[in-house]
Amino acid sequence: MTTPPRTALITGASAGIGAAFAHHLAASGYQLLLVARREDRLRELATQLTERHGVRCEVFAADLTDPAAPTAVLDHARNVGLDIDILINNAGLSGNTAFADTPWEVLAGEIQLMVTAQTQLIHLVIPGMKERRWGRIINVSSAAAFAPPAASLLYTGIKSYVLNTSQSLDMELKPHGIHVTALCPGFTRTEFHDVMGTRDRANDLPRILWQQPDAVVTEGWAAVMKGNPVCVPGTFNKISAAAMKPMPVRLGYLVGKTLNPFKNS
Ligand SMILES: NC(=O)c1ccc[n+]([C@@H]2O[C@H](COP(=O)([O-])OP(=O)(O)OC[C@H]3O[C@@H](n4cnc5c(N)ncnc54)[C@H](OP(=O)(O)O)[C@@H]3O)[C@@H](O)[C@H]2O)c1
Repeated sequence: MTTPPRTALITGASAGIGAAFAHHLAASGYQLLLVARREDRLRELATQLTERHGVRCEVFAADLTDPAAPTAVLDHARNVGLDIDILINNAGLSGNTAFADTPWEVLAGEIQLMVTAQTQLIHLVIPGMKERRWGRIINVSSAAAFAPPAASLLYTGIKSYVLNTSQSLDMELKPHGIHVTALCPGFTRTEFHDVMGTRDRANDLPRILWQQPDAVVTEGWAAVMKGNPVCVPGTFNKISAAAMKPMPVRLGYLVGKTLNPFKNS
């Protein structure tokens, strides 16, 4: 009897970095469970990947700001007979309004999506991974986690949480055959800035700052397979993350304050 291929659960697979992960893993022969809100996009991608690579590709439409969603995703995986060996915790976005002017429901949704749902999905997949003594988890953080604190709502704090908890989890789980990597991209050409409403400003940034999503994914996947707990993809991002790290806390605050987009509001 042949062993079935390993299965990857990818959140935020309907666009950008998540869709690039789906292409990369399908091309390597992994089965997929794709999650996001836009079901039509997920179905189109699933059909394309199955035709191109002959892999099984399931979809599950879910809004991960709904506290019931993580359990529903894993229930669906069980119902269709998939064990999750790989978790790509990628779904995310950034708000673009000052904290005090943003309705609480919006802020709570960001925390639910990028902190609570991400953390709960890890908690739900770990027992199976431990039992099979193999697992790979990528949590998509951001180069923002290394940058001086910005007055840009919760994003820097959320991505710092993802960076820190990923390393703690890697320490705890590696003895069980489970690697955890925080993937910290810089500016990546996806729909992120369209959703954030900053496309025009983003287009003015120098080309050297930008990476394509498949380059981010290739480096992130290599890092988790090697067992590296943190991956900052791209030369420019590596240099700027390394340069920010030794900055004293007070200086970091001042730099962040100078760059503060809401200082006049
Ligand atoms: N692009 C960058 O410059 C950049 C830099 C650093 C870090 N990142 C991080 O990279 C990750 C992926 O972003 P991206 O750049 O690929 O952006 P993107 O192209 O806008 O893709 C975001 C994905 O997240 C999904 N998503 C958003 N809200 C969701 C919700 N409530 N429930 C379920 N899925 C949801 C979207 O799907 P639906 O809309 O269909 O639900 C989409 O598939 C994010 O965590 C982001 O913070 C991006």
